[in-house]
Amino acid sequence: MKRTILLLVALLALATARAQERLVIHADQGEVTISKHIYGHFSEHLGHCIYGGYWVGEDSPIPNTRGIRDDVVRALREIRVPNLRWPGGCFADEYHWMDGIGPRAGRPRMINTHWGGVVEDNSFGTHEFLDLCEQLDCEPYICGNVGSGTVEEMSKWVEYITFDGESPMADLRRANGREAPWKVRFWGVGNENWGCGGEMTAEFYADQYRRYAVYCRNYGDNRLYKIAGGPNSGDYNWTETLMRKAGGQMQGLSLHHYTVPKNWGDKGSATRFDEAEYFATMEKSWVMEELIARHSTIMDRYDPRKRVALVPDEWGAWYNVEPGTNPGFLFQQNTLRDALLAALNLNIFNNHADRVRMANIAQTINVLQSVIFTEGEKMLLTPTYWVYWLYRAHQDATLLPVAFTSGRYRLGGREIAAVSVSASRDADGKVHVSLVNLDPNNERVIETELRGANSKKVTGHALTSARLTDHNTFDHPDAVTVKEFKGARLAKGTLSVTLPPKSIVMLEVE
Ligand code: AHR
Repeated sequence: MKRTILLLVALLALATARAQERLVIHADQGEVTISKHIYGHFSEHLGHCIYGGYWVGEDSPIPNTRGIRDDVVRALREIRVPNLRWPGGCFADEYHWMDGIGPRAGRPRMINTHWGGVVEDNSFGTHEFLDLCEQLDCEPYICGNVGSGTVEEMSKWVEYITFDGESPMADLRRANGREAPWKVRFWGVGNENWGCGGEMTAEFYADQYRRYAVYCRNYGDNRLYKIAGGPNSGDYNWTETLMRKAGGQMQGLSLHHYTVPKNWGDKGSATRFDEAEYFATMEKSWVMEELIARHSTIMDRYDPRKRVALVPDEWGAWYNVEPGTNPGFLFQQNTLRDALLAALNLNIFNNHADRVRMANIAQTINVLQSVIFTEGEKMLLTPTYWVYWLYRAHQDATLLPVAFTSGRYRLGGREIAAVSVSASRDADGKVHVSLVNLDPNNERVIETELRGANSKKVTGHALTSARLTDHNTFDHPDAVTVKEFKGARLAKGTLSVTLPPKSIVMLEVE
């Protein structure tokens, strides 16, 4: 009797630990492209993102091309960064671009009042940023100054960069060593104008947006894609007002939402957290789904044809800074938890690709949810980097409709969907499926029907680790990294995938 009970308990435990879910992927359908620009990045003059992150200067012993680190460029090219947002952030609305052109020795030294009160010597300016984008082979996304700038200043910046003819600004560019204009499409008209970008009301900013946007001209065949400063998380009134008053004048509306596990006073540690805090982080990350759905619903009313993109151009995890580091530099470690958070958000963006056509994680190097850390001549790739590496195949692929209801991950009387999925078909007809198992305790078996496909082969990669808090350090740079995934089987048209607990799996099906 005792043995039978023990056997039953063991079987029950096994069943719970191997929850089964059914997924249908409509592999022969799909109308929407997952824009590669969803995989964009954001880099601000903040802490060691620009200085020490990208920029070491031409005289540095660290290998560089015209002052820009070669190791960083190599690593970012590997994940095919499609666009880079710069110079901020809050910094953008205090940045006067003319301070960052001309001979470096003559550029003014000033205080970075927002971020650490350190000296900004302007050695990295417009030419250096656009050189960086050329080295990365990505599109620049420049954010102009509305908060403390002028219409004239922003208008002249566009002219300086993109005008080919004879004009004071184009001539100045040539005098500074750049003959041909650059192509710049993505143009942000201010940043967080409800906060650090001027503490404006939605009504006031909408009027300002219209005014600034008029004078951001299209020169030659350069066509600006103007992105208005959008709402803070769930500020639906902001979206409503902007769309009503200025929807016709913009191509994109930004959205900022950070995942803060605890609260803004004590955000929580990047590396020391228990399961309850992990659960809260993921619960708050799922909020992105609701934010996008609700902002999109408002946008649909004014723009049913979805001409205007919703652009989450600042998103990611925000924790307390690492002990002993400058609080104004926002340096935080990056664990497996961050990778799961990034993968979940990217799946959400993919699944809303009809409206979300661009996004930028904050921030690329040494700041907030980074993909790279540098320390002197050393560089390492964080767990979040590997998510971008895994998800490369979704860039510009066709989003596939899926039917899936995830099982639940429960803790302390609360619950969230345990598994997130998105799927796409690339130009060669290969199907890619990204699956995230947020449940840190249980495997999940996903029985997948690839409807409309005659699949023969499945391969994959996975990212996981023993503990959620695991992370990479300069002593152990490969503690958390991708490995080949062996947990998928194809038999009689059904793809059976066993997702390890707390894992991200990217499958390629041919
Ligand atoms: O990414 C850090 C800061 O967060 C940005 O400068 C600002 O836009 C946001 O509040």
